Amino acid sequence: MSPGKVRVLLVFGGRSAEHEVSVVSARSVSAALDHRRYDVVAVGIDKEGGWHLLPGPPALPGTGELPAVGTGAGSDVSLDRVPGTRELVSSAGDREPIDVVFPLVHGPFGEDGTLQGLFEMAGIPYVGAGVLASAVGMDKAVQKILFTAAGLPVVPHEVVTEREWREDPEAVTARAEALGTPLFVKPAALGSSVGITKVKTLADLPPAVDDAFRHGRKALIEQAAEGAREIECGVLGNEDPVASVPGEIVPAAEFYDYRAKYLDESTRLVVPAEVPTEVAEEAQRMAVAAFRAIDAAGMARVDFFYREPDELIVNEINTIPGFTTVSMYPRLWEASGIPYPELVDRLIRLALERHELDRGRVGD
Ligand SMILES: Nc1ncnc2c1ncn2[C@@H]1O[C@H](COP(=O)(O)OP(=O)(O)O)[C@@H](O)[C@H]1O
Ligand SMILES: [Mg+2]
Repeated sequence: MSPGKVRVLLVFGGRSAEHEVSVVSARSVSAALDHRRYDVVAVGIDKEGGWHLLPGPPALPGTGELPAVGTGAGSDVSLDRVPGTRELVSSAGDREPIDVVFPLVHGPFGEDGTLQGLFEMAGIPYVGAGVLASAVGMDKAVQKILFTAAGLPVVPHEVVTEREWREDPEAVTARAEALGTPLFVKPAALGSSVGITKVKTLADLPPAVDDAFRHGRKALIEQAAEGAREIECGVLGNEDPVASVPGEIVPAAEFYDYRAKYLDESTRLVVPAEVPTEVAEEAQRMAVAAFRAIDAAGMARVDFFYREPDELIVNEINTIPGFTTVSMYPRLWEASGIPYPELVDRLIRLALERHELDRGRVGD
């Protein structure tokens, strides 16, 4: 630890299916931080939720393998919750001061506002969306309500609870039928394409719905955006967010499923997306509107379905996008003139700025 340097706590790993991606993201961020100005404090969350203070984000173990945080790694730590203390406390009683957190944990218990709530309680500035926007960003049903209220188009869909499905499957099937096939069935609150099924005929609906409910009590049945391309924009900022150029995901599989996302080398990211200028500009406008609609902060990636020539539909917003050097979000900014190290730097400054704005308010 050196005086005058900003101590950045990188938090990564976590209990979701995106554990490994998160570790790789943290390694990339750690490597990109200007070590003349920042000291990195690394905390890995294992798959059971335990926190470990580590010398740094774990390295890639070898080709074809992904790094993970072991349950016995480093020393156990927790965050001191006394507001303003801003310290990690190890099980041995050692204290590690921190100035700002860069949370890189995807999915539940990381991207959904729970972790952000912990930082709020402790009075520590952190990168990215606050509690509300994080929670909304994790809930595909609620975010669609806010997008619609902001005038943004979403796919026709039905939100179904497990109770409704168990009590009256015929009624739910009728609602699905009205949307027309093919359909996508997905859990409301999960990322990484887990629990998502493309349903081509209504006969295949029940197993798809059951599968979605294995991951949560609320599911979405969506009309498939047939023939659509998938394009994404990065958004950066607090009060005056700006959007990056759009990029395109070209999956080799029928949809961008878990395999295609993390295991399939043939998925291509095209940056910038090859779309007409008007479409790119409209996507940027809509990305900023989506960011504002959920009251996001710092960063987010907004994903669209694009049907030629000019139809754009908002699919979803991600408040902690993948952050490896080859991930879409940093690549979009690279192509928009903000290299990776500068992006990380800006995000930390945005976190500190936002914290400063919120300080000293009534009720604080
Ligand atoms: N309504 C839909 N129409 C067409 N494709 C879809 C639809 N919903 C999901 N998909 C496909 O499934 C992928 C994952 O779905 P998404 O809702 O983005 O969930 P996740 O949060 O897991 O990324 C999308 O990138 C897309 O390829
Ligand atoms: Mg997605």
